[in-house]
Amino acid sequence: MTIRKVSENVKWIGSIDWDRRLFDELIPLPDGTSYNSYFVEGSEKNMLIDTIDPTKRDELMNNLRKLGVKTIDYVVANHGEQDHSGSLRQIIDEFGAEVLVNERGKDTTTSMVEVDSDETRVVEDGEEISLGDLDVEFMIAPWVHWPDTMFTYLKQDDVLFTCDYLGAHYATSKLFVDDFEELRKPAKRYFAEIMMPFASKSKSYIEDVRELDPEIVAPSHGPLYDDPKIILDAYSRWVNEEMKNKVVIPYVSMHGSTEKMVEYLTDSLIDKGVEVELFHMTSSDIGELAMALVDAATLVVGSPMVLGGAHPVMFYVSYLANALKPNTKYLSVVGSFGWGGRMINQLSDNTKALSAELIEPVTSKGYPDNEDLESLDELAQKIAQKHENNENVT
Ligand code: FEO
Repeated sequence: MTIRKVSENVKWIGSIDWDRRLFDELIPLPDGTSYNSYFVEGSEKNMLIDTIDPTKRDELMNNLRKLGVKTIDYVVANHGEQDHSGSLRQIIDEFGAEVLVNERGKDTTTSMVEVDSDETRVVEDGEEISLGDLDVEFMIAPWVHWPDTMFTYLKQDDVLFTCDYLGAHYATSKLFVDDFEELRKPAKRYFAEIMMPFASKSKSYIEDVRELDPEIVAPSHGPLYDDPKIILDAYSRWVNEEMKNKVVIPYVSMHGSTEKMVEYLTDSLIDKGVEVELFHMTSSDIGELAMALVDAATLVVGSPMVLGGAHPVMFYVSYLANALKPNTKYLSVVGSFGWGGRMINQLSDNTKALSAELIEPVTSKGYPDNEDLESLDELAQKIAQKHENNENVT
């Protein structure tokens, strides 16, 4: 992998992973990703900021050799997850670096990868380390998205290294974002999948970064920002309390009954001026659903009952929506049943972390009849009314 200049004293020496299609055996990566690692050269000491995924380790090691590096004084582990800490062992073995972590990072790095406690040095929030002519400051920023996260700031070059925060799973040969319209969707997908569960933390760090006002934001995935306002403004919108007059309907249907209900509800909502996004979950990408949930006022889960409860796919989807903690205002369920089951209770229990008001679900015995369709019209009317009356829904 090629070496690229970020600023006067910083080089990008990471890896672009064009082919990766799944993260954590869960998150689809339609655009690949990158693992960004940065080498900082001071007049007296040098520093590596974050390592890279073990699958691409050789690229990092070769880049360091290409640079003629013989020893590394410090390697900063901004976060212990293996896509950033997974090459620490080899870096220590070949270059003898001291691992700089915060207290929680010490715990994660030493438990996730083969690093001993005595190979780490704990840094505090606001602590500075001198590399001779360069000064590096640490900003502890937990919960975006692990408890161990911190940012590292190189003062003279005015570069803030934010690890996962403000990143994107996006493989590109461009070092800096030159067209945010190209990156907007991957960045939003990344926010929805990784940062949305920690939106309040994310919100407070937006203000911290704005206050610091760095010239460059250098995350550990995706391209860098030499105009950080672009991504900060996007995050400000995504963490906002304001939701759109929109209903997201993830669903499955075994024999067409639930599908008919979902389609009827969709038409009825559209007739009432409400935007709708449908996701047939046996073929939909969960990242697309996560993105839709960022700003939708209402979530309606569509599921048939099977084996006495919700369809297992929708059980999973509701669990996932709950874990992502979108700022959903209203929630409902529509679906069909053959002879009964506990679907409504199950799905309500599964979505308890959402602070959403439950609007009375509509279920149909078998294929929906006219009475069921009327109930769906009533549900659409209630949703439209709730949206209209809520000042945070626009
Ligand atoms: Fe990119 Fe949380 O690791």
